Amino acid sequence: MSKIFIDACFGKDTPYTPVWMMRQAGRYLPEYMKVRAEAGNFLNLCHDPKKACEVTLQPVDIIGVDAAILFSDILVVPDEMGMDLEFITGEGPKFNDPIKNEADLDRLLGGDEAASKLTYVYDTIKLIKEQLADDKALIGFTGAPWTLATYMIEGEGTKTYNICKKMMYSNPELLHKILAKVTEVVKLYMEKQIQAGIDVVQIFDSWAAAIEPGMYDEFSWKYMVEIAEYLKEKYPHIPVIMFPKGIPAFLDKVYGNFDVFGVDWSTPMSLAKEKLGDKYVLQGNMEPCRLYSKEATTKCVETIQETMQGKRHIFNLGHGILPDVPVENAKHFINECHRVSKKA
Ligand code: CP3
Repeated sequence: MSKIFIDACFGKDTPYTPVWMMRQAGRYLPEYMKVRAEAGNFLNLCHDPKKACEVTLQPVDIIGVDAAILFSDILVVPDEMGMDLEFITGEGPKFNDPIKNEADLDRLLGGDEAASKLTYVYDTIKLIKEQLADDKALIGFTGAPWTLATYMIEGEGTKTYNICKKMMYSNPELLHKILAKVTEVVKLYMEKQIQAGIDVVQIFDSWAAAIEPGMYDEFSWKYMVEIAEYLKEKYPHIPVIMFPKGIPAFLDKVYGNFDVFGVDWSTPMSLAKEKLGDKYVLQGNMEPCRLYSKEATTKCVETIQETMQGKRHIFNLGHGILPDVPVENAKHFINECHRVSKKA
């Protein structure tokens, strides 16, 4: 059966424009909270293929999205490279042993050694594929090397990125070594996700905006493109979505062999269309907080549909859904995307 979502990623004509939501498997769903409570904590949930499969499928069944996104986290990669990851409730992720120097980096596993340790992710994918309806796509994902490196160097989420930036300006060689090592792991990790059965790849560069525009290519984009091109060369039938968050100043310089460009909520869709709409399918853009109001949601869905007339796109949020969004408002968003784009 043809998957509308895959056709849309390749810019083919579809009966309606497909939609999914970043962070669609998560805390706004009571069903997710129940499974997470059974698992004990968030990392246990990531490590348990049966439970991870169950929460991956929840938004497909409950909200009616056109694609499932694998339930996992970007930080399982540095965790399996040998860093010590903890998720502290109310505080977020924490590495107790951040990378300070070359010796710290050398201690970490690289390449296939690290990628081979993520078996629970590949097992989760296989289980999901057994249960996901044929007409729905499964999106696998990774963090961009830069976004992963921010956690590996800072040890936790940061507002200032001062430790990474000190390294960027005073020891760029070490930062590049870290990025190159992560890139090698991620290439093989995504290849193994494809071999396990994912239909689409998304690369999240959530902290792209921390880099000044003139240096974004050097410290992040070129590594994302290297990963995308490695995968496109071997698996041209698998669409690749790039999501660099918060870099409107870089739109003129975007290059590379990939299929879909994820537009964050701070970038006007009309600007993304003008700069990139001839070259890539565009995805996303709705400010996630619009989900607090059905009226605000409908207005934005209609505006995006109108803006994208004559160009291919995929509906999504311009970043992740927040935990206190009412489930019925999330359903409303999906229904509205289908309504406004359905061919008469
Ligand atoms: O539905 C989905 O999108 C699939 C699952 C998914 C999670 N994390 C589950 C998760 C995905 C795609 C991610 C990616 C991820 N993880 C990113 C990139 C995407 C983005 O939102 O920008 C980043 C930066 C992370 C790192 C991370 N994981 C942080 C900063 C946090 C804590 C902040 C928070 O929202 O609590 C997490 C935890 C996390 N990852 C949760 C979920 C559902 C919440 C954990 C919980 O259940 O309490």
